[in-house]
Amino acid sequence: MTVSGSKPLFVLNGPNLNLLGQRERGVYGSATLKDVEAECHALAEALAMTVDFRQSNSEGELVDWLHEAGQKAAGVAINAGAYTHTSIALHDAIKGIDVPVVELHLSNIHARESFRHHSMISAACIGQICGFGTASYTLALRALADRLSKPLG
Ligand code: DQA
Repeated sequence: MTVSGSKPLFVLNGPNLNLLGQRERGVYGSATLKDVEAECHALAEALAMTVDFRQSNSEGELVDWLHEAGQKAAGVAINAGAYTHTSIALHDAIKGIDVPVVELHLSNIHARESFRHHSMISAACIGQICGFGTASYTLALRALADRLSKPLG
């Protein structure tokens, strides 16, 4: 599967994901965010795509990056961290842009505490991938590439 086009896929990471590899390893594993970034670049290369990989602890910065993605990206994979469960601003930002957005999580949020079961952003995304550890990132990129090569309708 290859997708051509010059626009990158944005991979956006929310709060505390900079601590990956040190943080709650029993839940999130021992890979660091740098490791995840390397996996994303390797897959993107195989798909003839490019990835712009970013992390922020700030909700507003993630909103700004989604707006930027609306202008500059072919699609977005987002792990919004805890903002997933709280942020109407991220929901609205995703709704406000005209590129496909995939929600992803390392852990299976539906099998964890009840406050993680609801996502504020799912309804604005084309789909959700969760529970596959770092493979959730590459699965999200494959889902985006698939959608971009075979648009609905
Ligand atoms: C997470 C799940 C969220 O509930 C949590 O707040 C995170 C990480 C995940 O990747 O599994 O920070 O998004």
